[in-house]
Amino acid sequence: MKTADDSLGLLVRAGLPDDLRVLYARYPRGDWNTVHTIGQLGAFWLERHAMFRDFGRLLGSGLEDLREGRVTADRFAKWFAPRLNHFLGDLEGHHQVEDYQYFPLFAAADVRLASGFALLEEDHHQIHALLERNAETANRFYHDLTTGDERLPFSRDAYAVEADALLKGLERHLEDEEDLLIPLLLDQGERKFGGY
Ligand SMILES: [Fe+2]
Ligand SMILES: [Fe+2]
Repeated sequence: MKTADDSLGLLVRAGLPDDLRVLYARYPRGDWNTVHTIGQLGAFWLERHAMFRDFGRLLGSGLEDLREGRVTADRFAKWFAPRLNHFLGDLEGHHQVEDYQYFPLFAAADVRLASGFALLEEDHHQIHALLERNAETANRFYHDLTTGDERLPFSRDAYAVEADALLKGLERHLEDEEDLLIPLLLDQGERKFGGY
């Protein structure tokens, strides 16, 4: 799916545009939990995002260990499969909660940020496509890992390309979402969104 403004695409933009930084200007990252205390809901969001970043990087470093011969294919396959499934499944679930439960509330709470939540929802579609390509290449890779197929170096590298693309898009999305959402929660308080 394309954004109305292609320069705001997930894999292109360098952050939120200025018009979506109206609250961020008042609640910049450097003030989070120093000048302004983030509540339970905001803290939960940041923890989930930190977990996704950690998972993505962990999978990347595991792949590097395999490539460098620091782990056998068999051991790597046993380590990799449950973690990748967990990562992909949790991410999908997280986006669904955001799209259906929270983003409509946030968008309605401050109309100046509504287009930002639409942008994040569009990111979710793009990330979904990246997740599907990730899963497809991972299946091939896992098959070659567990059968000793000689094409393993190729399926491993094909998976690595998709994993990098996913992580890159995901990191952009998580940061922009935090920059939009946390200032809104700080500005309006969390009670109206079910937090405290
Ligand atoms: Fe999101
Ligand atoms: Fe999120």
